[in-house]
Amino acid sequence: MELILDTADLNAIKEYDELLTVSGVTTNPSIITKTGKEPETALAELIDYLRPEQKLFVQTVQTTVEGIVEEARYIASLRPENMYAKIPVTREGLRAIKLVKQEGIKVLATSIYSPDTGFLAAMNGADYLAPYVNRMCNFGDGVGQVIDLQRMLTVHGLPTKIVAASFKSVQQVHDLIVAGIEAVTVPPEVLKNMVDHPGTPIAVDEFSVAWEQAYGRSTLRA
Ligand code: E4P
Repeated sequence: MELILDTADLNAIKEYDELLTVSGVTTNPSIITKTGKEPETALAELIDYLRPEQKLFVQTVQTTVEGIVEEARYIASLRPENMYAKIPVTREGLRAIKLVKQEGIKVLATSIYSPDTGFLAAMNGADYLAPYVNRMCNFGDGVGQVIDLQRMLTVHGLPTKIVAASFKSVQQVHDLIVAGIEAVTVPPEVLKNMVDHPGTPIAVDEFSVAWEQAYGRSTLRA
């Protein structure tokens, strides 16, 4: 499974890239604006930091077919490999996905609120699909619908992968990992709660106290 960071905050990216096994970074226009930097600067810093094998997903901003295609080409030109254009699955986006896939551009179809729209984007050749789990939960069983989408891809033999997105809780991430999801993109605030269970440092303190009391030192060897 791929663990992807859903942020453009370089400090958070460095922190979790050192701590965990990270496959890449997803951004969207809101995430880029949160950096407070010009988009060119924010993207250049991400490209500079990531290792070649780590993926970077950058979203198109324009909403016309022509605009999406032009921006997807620009995104693809920024880095020789592992660069993905994120394209929202509007009608214009679905058309643009067909066009840019003919040029060999890597695509993540995003802003997916239903398994059916996601499936159609996969049929158009999208490499990844980003269903918006928490946002879907506002309308029903978001996790269950993503599992449906995963099943639809499997039974129809489509190679498209799901990178489940828009997480607001560890439980949502957990449920999809249990279901065998191929990738999750998780924001630092949710990832922190996955990493830092309060029980672990309590257990470590107990071990340290027991050792110190028995042997009068805090190291394994004297
Ligand atoms: C990532 O690919 C998505 O753009 C992101 O997870 C959306 O998250 P949000 O629902 O918190 O905006």
